[in-house]
Amino acid sequence: MTISYTWWKDATVYQIWPASFKDSNGDGLGDIPGIISKLDYLKNLGVDVIWMSPMYDSPQDDMGYDISDYKKVYPKYGTVDDMKVLLDEAHSRGIKLVLDLVVNHTSSEHRWFKESRSSLDNDKRDWYVWKKPKYDAEGNRHPPNNWSTHFSEPAWTYDETTDEYYLHLFAKSQPDLNWENPATRNAIYDEAMSFWFELGVDGFRIDVANMYSKDQRFLDVPIVFPDQSFQPCMQYTHNGPRIHEFHKEMFEKVTSKYDAMTVGEVAFCSREDALKYVSAKEKEMSMIFLFDVVDVGTVHANRLEKPANPWKLSELKQAVENQCEFIKGTDAWSTVFFENHDQPRSISKFGSLNPKYNFKSAKLLAMLQTALTGTLYIYQGQEIAMANLPASWSIDEYLDIMTINYYRNWVEIHGKDADFEEQKKVILEGINMLARDHARSPVQWDASEYAGFSPVAPWTRVNDNYKEINVESQLNDPNSVLHFWAKSLKVRKEHKDLLIYGAYKTLDQDNEQVYSFIKYQNDETSSPKAFVTLNFSDEPAKFERLVEGQYTLVNSNVDVQDEATLSPYEGRLYIVD
Ligand code: GLC
Ligand code: CA
Repeated sequence: MTISYTWWKDATVYQIWPASFKDSNGDGLGDIPGIISKLDYLKNLGVDVIWMSPMYDSPQDDMGYDISDYKKVYPKYGTVDDMKVLLDEAHSRGIKLVLDLVVNHTSSEHRWFKESRSSLDNDKRDWYVWKKPKYDAEGNRHPPNNWSTHFSEPAWTYDETTDEYYLHLFAKSQPDLNWENPATRNAIYDEAMSFWFELGVDGFRIDVANMYSKDQRFLDVPIVFPDQSFQPCMQYTHNGPRIHEFHKEMFEKVTSKYDAMTVGEVAFCSREDALKYVSAKEKEMSMIFLFDVVDVGTVHANRLEKPANPWKLSELKQAVENQCEFIKGTDAWSTVFFENHDQPRSISKFGSLNPKYNFKSAKLLAMLQTALTGTLYIYQGQEIAMANLPASWSIDEYLDIMTINYYRNWVEIHGKDADFEEQKKVILEGINMLARDHARSPVQWDASEYAGFSPVAPWTRVNDNYKEINVESQLNDPNSVLHFWAKSLKVRKEHKDLLIYGAYKTLDQDNEQVYSFIKYQNDETSSPKAFVTLNFSDEPAKFERLVEGQYTLVNSNVDVQDEATLSPYEGRLYIVD
């Protein structure tokens, strides 16, 4: 097998959520100088690329995923000049910088939308998706169809000025752009992409990259949730008829001009469709995020329902395999991620919160991720095992629009049920497991008040556990999760032909206690290969050599090994010749 090495395939990417990373000026909100002040920390961890979530000007209804000006920075984060300093400081340390490209929609405060909504004959009218109301026999006005947003609301909002509805697949204040119009697409390429490439950014994470091409018939969808008027509409909004044409155009007109990486967020996607986005010969995107792993232990996408049963190890194995296997034998590339700003903390889902095993299980998860095929993404705080918000906190501490809307919609439907209070308990448990808020609490830098994130009370509350879990204490402890991540990232690079580029195979799919797999080049029999075995339980397990050969231990999360037994949450990585 000849490996085609590329900087973005090798890279360890670290995602920064600007609001919660580091506050430099004492206003309780993270900012760009705060990020600059931590670049050496990231360098020492082994980070090659930073992906920065939106830092553009925005009313912040969806934390910056509602952009009002692509060419400006949100003033509380800093300025375009601060971004130039960040780029210089990162580049001088050999770190690249990737921004978030949010172009399925803008904010309703964007000047394009203000013009578009102003009249039927405005020249930007067609830059968004406008439709006439529907009327029933009694003359009541209804939206053009029954589509739902991802935030528990109808996807159409009525605008009195012109007596029409506009489409928004997220919040009301995030109107969808009309990608059918070439003028809109060119404006996006210019303002949202070329402007930043010319300033020196190294690529983009592409927000909801498979949602730009809507089925232009705008048909009603089947009813999935009979108790509400709006329904999931992914069949008409995801991977639509022109989506690949749009990505090819974006690549040809913009991305191909730079030595850039792109990574598309692609939910609800078959493996065949996935290949079309990331096969190198298709010239669309470098790689995509699929949702198999993060969807383990959830019921419905975008609904924060508590699953009836806990997740199973066999499901995690299957999900990992789905995410890295679809590229086997192709020219496509994949990604590895267990967390991002939309997901709960991985330690709270896949690890152990029992103090006895908490850090050990976090290291186990690091061993798993650093051995998987594709570009690896770490989310801020994951490297110190930051956990979900405490179950004791009230619903008022949850500030995310998805959580707020989901809860409000549920109260609207069930507020008068006789067993409301009992149901509410379960709903809150679901929110405590799955809400996006869990990823968005301030990074815990040290044990001082507000976790050293800010000298004042931050915009969102610091997790109660910051005295036990913080960067400073882990920097001082050679056995910490943080140092283990740094070490495991080195091991990943030292054995990159197997760990980053090699093919993956699960060896014990039905085992619900131990997770073992191999990484190999060419085919399953070729040597050397990597053999990884991980005990995902708080019971000892038998250690089994599931492949033949000469074993050399290259990484493990315990000091003393009992060769025959995997202690609770013990993991081992061997190179087998
Ligand atoms: C993506 C983002 C999410 C955001 C949504 C709308 O899913 O990751 O945070 O709310 O798009 O832009
Ligand atoms: Ca600040």
